[in-house]
Amino acid sequence: MKIVNRIDELRTMLTEEKTEGKTVGFVPTMGYLHEGHLSLIHAARKENEVVVISIFVNPLQFGPGEDFDQYPRDIEHDEALAREAGVDYLFYPTVAEMYGERPTVTVKVHERTDCLCGKSRPGHFDGVATVLTKLFNIVAPTRAYFGLKDAQQVAVVEGLIRDFNFPIELVGVDIKREEDGLALSSRNVNLTPEERTEAVHISKSLRLIREAIENGSTPAAALAEGIGYLQGHITGSIDYLEALSYPELKSITDVRETIIVAAAVQYSKVRLIDNVIIKNEQPRG
Ligand code: PAJ
Repeated sequence: MKIVNRIDELRTMLTEEKTEGKTVGFVPTMGYLHEGHLSLIHAARKENEVVVISIFVNPLQFGPGEDFDQYPRDIEHDEALAREAGVDYLFYPTVAEMYGERPTVTVKVHERTDCLCGKSRPGHFDGVATVLTKLFNIVAPTRAYFGLKDAQQVAVVEGLIRDFNFPIELVGVDIKREEDGLALSSRNVNLTPEERTEAVHISKSLRLIREAIENGSTPAAALAEGIGYLQGHITGSIDYLEALSYPELKSITDVRETIIVAAAVQYSKVRLIDNVIIKNEQPRG
């Protein structure tokens, strides 16, 4: 595995690989790797000849007062995990390498951001879209892998790839969970033991809502039940618990469309997110 800090160096190396006609799978991350990230890397390893991951805690996607400084970092551990998972190139740039003194151009996302995390984290998805535009240009992968843990991010990236004509195939990968159902996240280490124990109820409430909808409840009735359950079982504050169409992220007008039920809970030092997607296979019309 090659560890590369410089943009031009990575470009030169990957250009060489591509002239040999190799496919490139790319997994962008902010590091502190866990099984969730590894499932993306494994998927990329299976489907491509070259696997590139990036580790970059992107300041542009953190708002003022968010956890940029507290975001966990452990590059040595990440290197070992990436090597073991069969990564070929680990791109690990500094903030100065990516942005210089400060960016002169940034990307603005206009759709799919007026709800869920976009509402409570203004500018977050602009920061994500800006860094991904740069990373897509630097790596120029055949396929890019994203986790459905951040389902709104996947919806935004779908729009970015389409609107900016990136010749990249977007691959969405299912959520990896702890045994008790908590979605894996780099941020879970910043939960107190009590918060960690009760956080299990977030995924439980989502499962409850999914079952209710699958058993014929309206999304509104199922949501009300889920919100009641969550309020009764956690001390963290519920930022949102919503059901929307997916990937458009609009109000549900037809119960036959694919629905996302998504939650965000604010704890003392961490904000946790989770979701379930309910695919409706029935023919429309
Ligand atoms: P990060 O939070 O490090 O996540 C990197 C990728 O891992 C994302 O696509 C995320 O959805 C996926 N992931 C995280 N936890 C997962 C889980 N439990 N199961 C499956 N996939 C999981 O998302 C980002 O970084 C950044 O916004 C980034 C895209 C790198 C842009 O800065």
